[in-house]
Amino acid sequence: MLVVDGPLSNGIGKPVASKLDCGFVESRHALFPDGESEVGIVGPVEGEDVLIVQSTYPMQDKRLIELLLLADCAKKHGAKSIGAIIPYLAYMRQDRLFEGKGNAISINTVLEMLSFAGITSLVTVAPHNAESLSYFKGPVAIVEAAVPLAKEVKKDVSSPFVLAPDEGAMDLAGRFARALGCDYAYIEKRRDRQTGEVNILKAPKADFKGKEVIVVDDMISTGGTIAQAARFALSGGASRVITAAAHLLMVSNAYDRIKEAGIDAIYGTNTIPYGRAHMVDISNSIAAAISNKVK
Ligand code: R5P
Repeated sequence: MLVVDGPLSNGIGKPVASKLDCGFVESRHALFPDGESEVGIVGPVEGEDVLIVQSTYPMQDKRLIELLLLADCAKKHGAKSIGAIIPYLAYMRQDRLFEGKGNAISINTVLEMLSFAGITSLVTVAPHNAESLSYFKGPVAIVEAAVPLAKEVKKDVSSPFVLAPDEGAMDLAGRFARALGCDYAYIEKRRDRQTGEVNILKAPKADFKGKEVIVVDDMISTGGTIAQAARFALSGGASRVITAAAHLLMVSNAYDRIKEAGIDAIYGTNTIPYGRAHMVDISNSIAAAISNKVK
């Protein structure tokens, strides 16, 4: 097996290769004057089971094209098989047809593109909707972020309570709460699909008094969802509110938005590096998921 570090591997490729005790090669990438990507694998891949590591946070389209081109490089240079480790997999939130939007199911399109490029197995971390990965034609390993995140958060709290900001994050909140040995609840939210504004539809009757509330989600994008939940927890008597999410996209002033709402600390994983948060390294969990599959 050979791990190929993509242009946006965030340093995850090397530790994964070392934990799996397999080969490691870098890739190179450049831009043509008109902005087209040019990539290459810096080492022989012939006869190897290649695993390409590439996260796909902004600029998502560029990162996906780089991944597809790298897969094609591996194919053209004789790799025996090609797998992708995509720590943050973009385009997961458009996972169905939305009323009146005339949209595509973007995750379906993206996963079909991976197959077309010759990628036959996939590893990803904390997907937004695990079921939509069934659009991929091949084995998929899902790496859990709740437990590694909870291990770090545990050092920072003495009276925790886990809050999911929407129903979709309820499972995650349950796993997080079990790892911390505390209770959890969830909020029912509604997002206006035109303005992006997030509102609480139904709030849980949980008692937050004196609790350090940890708002958990799969990702923080604009921070609207977390900010809403943080305000709700503080108005219910929480002594402190922190947040933990697998993927910190943190776009459009998300940091200011959640700080203004009272978030005291942010935890995330290195699927997307973010300098203002406590970063949890997910490489060990990725390597473990791969070796479990290979065994
Ligand atoms: C949506 O269902 C996701 O799980 C997140 O809650 C959402 O993407 C967060 O977006 P934002 O930070 O913009 O509210």
